[in-house]
Amino acid sequence: KQNPLEMLREKNEQALKGGGVERIAAQHAKGKLTARERISLLLDEGSFQELDRFVVHRGTDFGIDREKYLGDGVVTGFGKVLGRLVYVFSQDFTVFGGSLSEAHAEKIVKIMDLAMKNGAPVIGLNDSGGARIQEGVSSLGGYADIFYRNTLASGVIPQISAIMGPCAGGAVYSPAITDFILMVEQTSYMFVTGPNVVKTVTQEQVSAEELGGAMTHASKSGVTHFACANEVACIDQIKHLLSYLPQNCEEEAPSLPYETKGDELRPALDTLVPENPNHPYDMREVTAEIADGDSFLEVHKDFAENIVVGFARIAGRSVGVVGNQPAVLAGVLDIHASIKAARFVRFCDCFNIPLLVLVDVPGFLPGTDQEWNGIISNGAKLLYAFSEATVPRITVITRKAYGGAYDVMNSKHIGADLNFAWPSAEIAVMGAKGAAEIIFKREIARSDNPEAKLREKIDEFTDRFANPYTAAERGYVDEVILPSETRQRLIRAFDMLENKVDTLPRKKHGNIPL
Ligand code: COA
Repeated sequence: KQNPLEMLREKNEQALKGGGVERIAAQHAKGKLTARERISLLLDEGSFQELDRFVVHRGTDFGIDREKYLGDGVVTGFGKVLGRLVYVFSQDFTVFGGSLSEAHAEKIVKIMDLAMKNGAPVIGLNDSGGARIQEGVSSLGGYADIFYRNTLASGVIPQISAIMGPCAGGAVYSPAITDFILMVEQTSYMFVTGPNVVKTVTQEQVSAEELGGAMTHASKSGVTHFACANEVACIDQIKHLLSYLPQNCEEEAPSLPYETKGDELRPALDTLVPENPNHPYDMREVTAEIADGDSFLEVHKDFAENIVVGFARIAGRSVGVVGNQPAVLAGVLDIHASIKAARFVRFCDCFNIPLLVLVDVPGFLPGTDQEWNGIISNGAKLLYAFSEATVPRITVITRKAYGGAYDVMNSKHIGADLNFAWPSAEIAVMGAKGAAEIIFKREIARSDNPEAKLREKIDEFTDRFANPYTAAERGYVDEVILPSETRQRLIRAFDMLENKVDTLPRKKHGNIPL
C-alpha cells in the first residue's frame, strides 16, 4: 500500500502540472501565462488558499472518461490583494482548453457563494474554449449557475473579469454582468460568434482580433473597460483598481492617510479654461490638478472619449469622477457617452464611492444617427443614474452647462449635494448665438444691418445668461469659486458629506430605461 503522505504529494504534483508540460510550453509560446502563474502574480505572496484541487469532471461521452485532470481546468480559491481578501478563479487553458464542464462550473460557484457570504470581491481570470463540448447541456447549466450568481452578486460585491485568452459564445455573459472587464492586447478576444460563423452568415471577412480583440472592445463596443499591453500589466491594473473599491456594498472604500498640504490652492486652474468659449481644453488636466498626486485611474479611456470617467483620490478619499471632455466633440453628450457615464455612476453608487462631476457640456449631439439609435432613452440613463444615486455628489461647472444637459449633469435639481461654478460658467438654455438667432429672428431680419444686430443680440444674451450668476441668484449654484480654490473646497465638501444618509422610496427596484 502506498504511503498516504506520499500519495498526497504525488497528487499535488500532478494537479500543479495542469494539462502537462507540453501544453504549458504551448501556452507560454503564445505569450500567455498559466492559470497558476497568473494567480501568483495577483495575490500577495503565500496568501493563496486553493479549494477543490482534486475535483475532476464526471463526463462519460466521446471517451472523455478516459481523460481526467485534477482540478478540471480551473484553479479556484481565496487570498489577499494588498492585504485585503479576494476570491479568485483562474481558468487553465492547458486542460481541455479551459472549457467549462459541470464540475468546473461548480468550483466557480463555490467561491462565488463564499464571496457573497463573506463580502469580498470576486476576480475571474478567463481563458477558455467555452462550454465543454463533450458534456453538452450540463455545461450550459453550469454557465447559467454562474450567470445567476453574477446577477445576484451585482451591487453586493465588486466583480472583476480579466480576459486572458478566448472568451466566446455564452461564456461572454458572465464577464458582461460583472463590474469591470480587462482584456489583454493580441492574446485575448471576446465574441458571441467567431469569425467563421460571421463569414458564413454575413460574408464579412474579419480576424478574431479585429472582431473581438482588446482594442476593438475598448474603443468600438465599450465592452471592456481596460485594454492592457500584456498579462502582467493587466494583473497590475486589477490590483490598482481594487485599491479604490470597498470590499462590499456595506463598506466604504479604504482611504489613504493624508495630511493637508498648505492652502491646497491650485493656481494653474485659473488659466486653464481658454478665453474663447469655443476653444477646447482637456478635462483630464482639471482632474489631475484637483486630485491627489497622480491618483486618477481612467476607466473606459478609449471609448466615448467625449466623457471622462474614473477613480481618483481627494485628500486620500476614493471618489468617482465624471467629466465632460471639451477636447473631444466639444464634450457633447451622445449615446455612448451617456451609457458609459451612467454605468460608472451606478457602480459608484452601489459601492458608496462619492461622485465628483465636472461639467462643460454644450448639449446633446444632434443627428439622425443619434435619434434613430435612441439618444432619448440612452441619454435618460444618465439622468436616471444621477437621480437615483444617494452617495455624496458634488458638481463643478467649469464652463458650459446648456439645456437639458445642464439638468442631466448632476444638477442640484436631481439631488446633487453641492454645486460649485467657476466664473467662466455659462448656465443657459443654449449658446448665445443660437439663442439670439431664435428669439430675435424677426428683429434681426428687419434690421438694416442684420449681422451687426445679431452681434448686438448675442452680446445682450451673453451679458444676461452666459455666466453663473443667474443660476447663483436662485441657489442652483451654491458658490461661484475661483478655479484655483476648487480642490480646497472639494476637500472640505467631501468631509462635510462624509456621513450623508439618503434613501430612495421603497420599491422592488427601479425601471431604468435600458
Ligand atoms: N470543449 C472541449 N475541449 C475543448 C474546447 C471545448 N469547448 N475548446 C478547446 N478544447 C480543447 C481542444 O480539444 C484541445 O485539446 P488538446 O489539448 O487535447 O488537443 C485544447 O482544448 C486546445 O484547443 P485548440 O483548439 O488546440 O486551441 P487553439 O488555441 O488552437 O484554439 C479555440 C482555441 C477556443 C479557438 C478552439 O479550441 C475552439 O474553437 N474551441 C471551441 C469553441 C466553442 O465552440 N465552444 C463551445 C461553445 S461555447
